[in-house]
Amino acid sequence: MTTSTLPSEEKAKTSKTIEPCIIVIFGATGDLTSRKLFPALYNLARDKQLPSNFACVGFARREKTHEAFRQEMHEAVNKFSRVKPTDETLWKSFSNQIFYHQANFDDDQGYDSLNQFLQKLDKELGTSGNRIFYFSTPPSFFPTIVEKLSQHGLIYDVHKVKDKWSRIIIEKPFGHDLASGIELQKFVSKHLSESQIYRIDHYLGKETVQNILVFRFANSIFEAFWNNHYIDHIQITVGEEIGIGTRGAFWEEAGMLRDIVQNHMMQLLSLTAMEPPSSLRPESIHNEKVKVLQAIRPIDLSLFNQLVVRGQYGPGAIDGQGVIGYRQEKNVNPQSYVETFVALKFYIDNWRWANVPFYLRAGKRLPKRATEIAVTFKNAPGILFTQEGRQNEKNVLVIRIQPDEGIALRINCKVPGPSSPVQPVKMDFKYSSYFGLAPPEAYERLICDCILGDGTLFARGDEVLTSWKLISPILEEWNRLPPKDFPNYASGTWGPKAADEMMAKEGRAWRSI
Ligand code: BG6
Repeated sequence: MTTSTLPSEEKAKTSKTIEPCIIVIFGATGDLTSRKLFPALYNLARDKQLPSNFACVGFARREKTHEAFRQEMHEAVNKFSRVKPTDETLWKSFSNQIFYHQANFDDDQGYDSLNQFLQKLDKELGTSGNRIFYFSTPPSFFPTIVEKLSQHGLIYDVHKVKDKWSRIIIEKPFGHDLASGIELQKFVSKHLSESQIYRIDHYLGKETVQNILVFRFANSIFEAFWNNHYIDHIQITVGEEIGIGTRGAFWEEAGMLRDIVQNHMMQLLSLTAMEPPSSLRPESIHNEKVKVLQAIRPIDLSLFNQLVVRGQYGPGAIDGQGVIGYRQEKNVNPQSYVETFVALKFYIDNWRWANVPFYLRAGKRLPKRATEIAVTFKNAPGILFTQEGRQNEKNVLVIRIQPDEGIALRINCKVPGPSSPVQPVKMDFKYSSYFGLAPPEAYERLICDCILGDGTLFARGDEVLTSWKLISPILEEWNRLPPKDFPNYASGTWGPKAADEMMAKEGRAWRSI
């Protein structure tokens, strides 16, 4: 079986069969496991995309029986899955494959007993010794878990062991800056080869993100104007209405730049700007993405305030409901300098993109949830059709990643009638009205790809580190100069004034979404 969406990718993957395996989830009592991982596994089971010889073992510190864990996961799937577990027979057979293993992440005995337990499951369920270890813990535990797995023989040497495999899936952030990213990479590669490491960025599992490549490279018409001759600038927005919720402790360590920009947004940017890869093989795609990141001009610290804006939400209103500010959230320092909004301007110094600004903005507690890539084209020469001497609106192509997934093109049109005014209109393709089906969750695709051994939709080590290389100097500059005006935007608004001013100085504006 295959999960490919692209014809030539199909060819590359047909040789891959879904093999028996066990997934061990570290941090099994955490939020990610119940909100995303188990709903994804359940939907994969429902769609018959899991191997028939399969088990999932939750590994966490709390005492719990297998049965209690199954019950909790049933509730989680009920609450968070896109399809509710109403089919009892299906749930029963799925839940028979769920187990729980209690141990501390640094407890040697816990890994020995895990090893024995997994071997027992191999015998009972025919899972053939194949393993995926999913790191859904706080990042500080990653090195310990890797080391213990390796010491206790749970990670196989790919050069010596050929009849079974072991892989790890690591959640972001991979490191918290360039130095720690390099250190983690060095550490992890002491124990595993790159082909065993799956660095997850769930944005890559989204259908609309995968469609960026199809849109660009399965259509002949866009390539001709996808460059600095025709494009004025590109805006990428990741807006969220939600605040930081219960993740105060994590957020105080992370902030917007690390949580969204360093990974999700850099992925969107590199897919938008990359050259056509020579094939759809993971190496070709990763190579082209890395080339884009390498060509991004490092932030010039002497122009810092013209290129980078940070913000933090204060109290305000979302959908007419009052909400508290970041500094009032649980587990947050009341004087915190952590940013919940970032706006950035990048240039990509290569032939295709020379002098085309890429503007990125990401924020929590904005008026709406909206992720999009907007490509604004240069004006047509203002010779024939102008509006009382003014230029017409520029053409804008918008790729809506979520919600209301789709692609829209703003074009100028003649209004019917003798006076012939020109008016911008929108051509709009919506996934929901065309394809009808709700797309699968990103985690479904990514877990399935890892079982298949396909790393195309995961980040490669050099990709992550090249991104840190761009982001780390910004973090250092922010550390050096704490903000004086936080909180500087009210919840329910589009971020601090400085972000609008950054655009206005260049005669541009953020799109109103
Ligand atoms: C996660 C971030 O990676 O992505 C969260 O840690 C963010 O802060 C989430 O809310 C957004 O994901 P999605 O799929 O809802 O866009």
